[in-house]
Amino acid sequence: DPRQDLDGVVVVVSAGGTREALDPVRYLGNRSSGKQGVAIAEAAAARGADVVLVAGAVDIRLPDHPRIVTRRIESALDLQAQLADLSKDADVIIMAAAVADFRPRHVATAKIKKTHGQGADGGPDESAPTIELVRNPDILAELVRERHRQGGQVPYIVGFAAETGDAEHSVLELAQDKLRRKGCDLLVVNQVGVGVTFGQDDNTVTILRRDGGAPVTAGPTTKTRVSHALLDVIATELRR
Ligand code: C5P
Repeated sequence: DPRQDLDGVVVVVSAGGTREALDPVRYLGNRSSGKQGVAIAEAAAARGADVVLVAGAVDIRLPDHPRIVTRRIESALDLQAQLADLSKDADVIIMAAAVADFRPRHVATAKIKKTHGQGADGGPDESAPTIELVRNPDILAELVRERHRQGGQVPYIVGFAAETGDAEHSVLELAQDKLRRKGCDLLVVNQVGVGVTFGQDDNTVTILRRDGGAPVTAGPTTKTRVSHALLDVIATELRR
C-alpha cells in the first residue's frame, strides 16, 4: 500500500463474536463473522500500523501478516481483560467485536444433563432448566471512561453500532445518541436488517464523529474499502 500514513501507529482491533459459556460444551453466541474487524486489521497493517487483533469467534481465516499479532479470546470478560492490558500501549482502539450484552450467571462445571436435577418426587427432573443471565460490562464505554482517568497515553477510540431504526427515530438519530452515551471518538454505524451485513462481504456504513465533523458514508462496497474509509478518517484525526 503506497499510503504509509499509519507507520508506527499501534492499532488494537477487536473482531468476531464473544461466546458465553453455559457448561464445558455449550455457549451463547452470535452471528458475527469477524470479517469487518479482520479487514480493518489487514488494512491498518498494510498502511504501516502495528496491529493487535483480538479475535473472538470468527468464520474466516485469521490474517498472516508480519505486523499483525493475534490474540484469541472467548468471552466478553476475556476481551475486557485483554483490552485492559493492550490499551496502555494503544494509539487507536477499534471495537468491531460483537460483544454479548449478557452471560449466564452460572457456568456448570460438568455438562448439563437432560435430567438436570431432582424432581419433586425424588426422581430425575424432566423439566427444562432455566438459564439466568447477568449483564456484561460495556467494554467500550469503560475504555472511554478509563482513558480520562488514566491520563498518559490517550488512545483514539472507535465503536461500532448496528441499528435498525424504529417508528420514531432514524438509524442516524439512534446512532448519534449512542455516540454521546458511549463517548468514543468515532462511531461506525451499520444499517442492519434481515440478512444484511452479518457474514456478508460487502457493507455500507456511516462514520459519525464526536467532535461534530461531517459524517462520512462508505459503501455499499467491500469490507476492505470500508476499512480504508475508516482509516482515512482516523489517520486525518491523528495528525491534528
Ligand atoms: O450498545 P451496542 O452493543 O450497540 O454498542 C456496540 C459497540 O459497543 C461495539 O463497538 C461493541 O464492540 C461495543 N460493546 C462493548 N461491550 C458490550 C457491548 C458492546 O464494548 N458489552
